[in-house]
Parts: sequence; structure tokens; C-alpha cells
Amino acid sequence: MSLAIMHNLEIKGLIFDLDGVIANTADLHYRAWCKIGDQWGFNLSSAQNEELRGISRKDSILKIANWAGKSFTNEELDAFAFEKNKNYLSYCQTLGTKDILPGVFDFINSSINKDLKLAVGSASKNAKIILQKLGILDLFSIIVDGNMVQNSKPDPEVFIKCAEILELEPKSCVVFEDSQAGIQAAINAGMFSVGVGQEDLESCNYKIKNFEGLSPKQLINQLSN
Ligand code: BG6
Ligand code: MG
Repeated sequence: MSLAIMHNLEIKGLIFDLDGVIANTADLHYRAWCKIGDQWGFNLSSAQNEELRGISRKDSILKIANWAGKSFTNEELDAFAFEKNKNYLSYCQTLGTKDILPGVFDFINSSINKDLKLAVGSASKNAKIILQKLGILDLFSIIVDGNMVQNSKPDPEVFIKCAEILELEPKSCVVFEDSQAGIQAAINAGMFSVGVGQEDLESCNYKIKNFEGLSPKQLINQLSN
């Protein structure tokens, strides 16, 4: 009997956000956005950067330009976003297995052993490149990234798409997220949500500092409480 059925929950799938959940790329995104801000004489604060968690590249640049009081044409915004991404990818050059956040690798492997279906659901258009650099691309047969969705989190599109490809009902899926937009997207999708790494996340079913010591059995216990 599967773990989830033992606890009267039908958890069959786990959907992982990437940035801030599997690896701490948030700092690299921040560095790359700061470099654009510098060109505009604008200092992007870390509090503002927190508001960019989980938000697409396009929506992020719109927010930053707005904070900076700048008005650009679409073409100019696209050019800045392109430049930001070039810088971001150059900072990602050194990423490797060492950058996988604590406990993630073991938790993923235990979940696979328990026959849970896994997917990555990320706003990032670089998700596959980053997973490859981390050396864990092969662990996920399903990756829905920023190239495959029209709407940014908190829209549930990315997670609904994961569930469709996993052939699971939303209520059988758990989403792991470090952003409030992502938690809201999971709620909007009708899924369980686990907040990762950020103390101030609201409305999630369960919160963890990181994956260290967490087993799929403990997770399902917590969600069934
Ligand atoms: C999200 C990050 O996962 O992806 C955001 O939290 C980032 O910070 C967004 O802006 C888009 O990423 P990318 O790699 O497509 O620029
Ligand atoms: Mg994230």
C-alpha cells in the first residue's frame, strides 16, 4: 500500500520549483538584476528583490523599471532582459552538484523509491540548463518551465500543466515553493503546498527550512495532520 493511501491522502506527485528550492540561484538573479539597475542609477534593494521571487523575467523587469521610475519601450525592455540573462548565465557557469540545497538530493531519491511521480515547475526559461549544471536533469522526466507557459505565478498554469503531464489530479500533488507567488499558484491549482526556506511564507500547508532530514513519509504525515 502506498504511503499516501495509508494516511487517507492521495499524494501521488511532487512538483518542485527550481530557483530557491532545488538551488540557491536567487542570489545570482539578484546580482544580475543589480547590474541592470546600476546602469539606470537605481539601487535594487534586497527587500525589492524578495518581491521578484517566482516572477518571470519579463514581469521582473517591468517591476524594476517601475521602481526605478523609468519608462522604456518594449524593445528596450527586451534588450535589458536579454543582457540580464547573459550576465545571469555567466554567473551560473560555476554551478554544480555542490550547489544543490541541503537534503534535496536524498529527498528526491527517497521519493522516487516510494514511487511518487516528480516534476519541476519553474518560471525560469533556464530551468533545463540549470538542472543539467546541477547534475540532476535526468531525475526529472517532466519539466515545465517559463518557455511553456503564458502566465506567471500566482497563475496556476505551470503547476496545472505539470499535473496534466503527470496524469494526476491537482489534489494528488504537492508543490514545493520558496515564493509567495508560487504558494498562491499552488493554492490556485488546488494542490498542497510546502513553503521552503522562507520564514514569512503564508498560507502553505507546511513549512520547512530545507529538505535535510525530511522523508516522504514525514511529509505525508505532516500534510495529513
Ligand atoms: C524564477 C525566479 O524561478 O524564475 C525569478 O524566482 C526569475 O527570480 C524567474 O526571474 C525567471 O527566470 P529566468 O531564468 O527565465 O530569467
Ligand atoms: Mg523559486
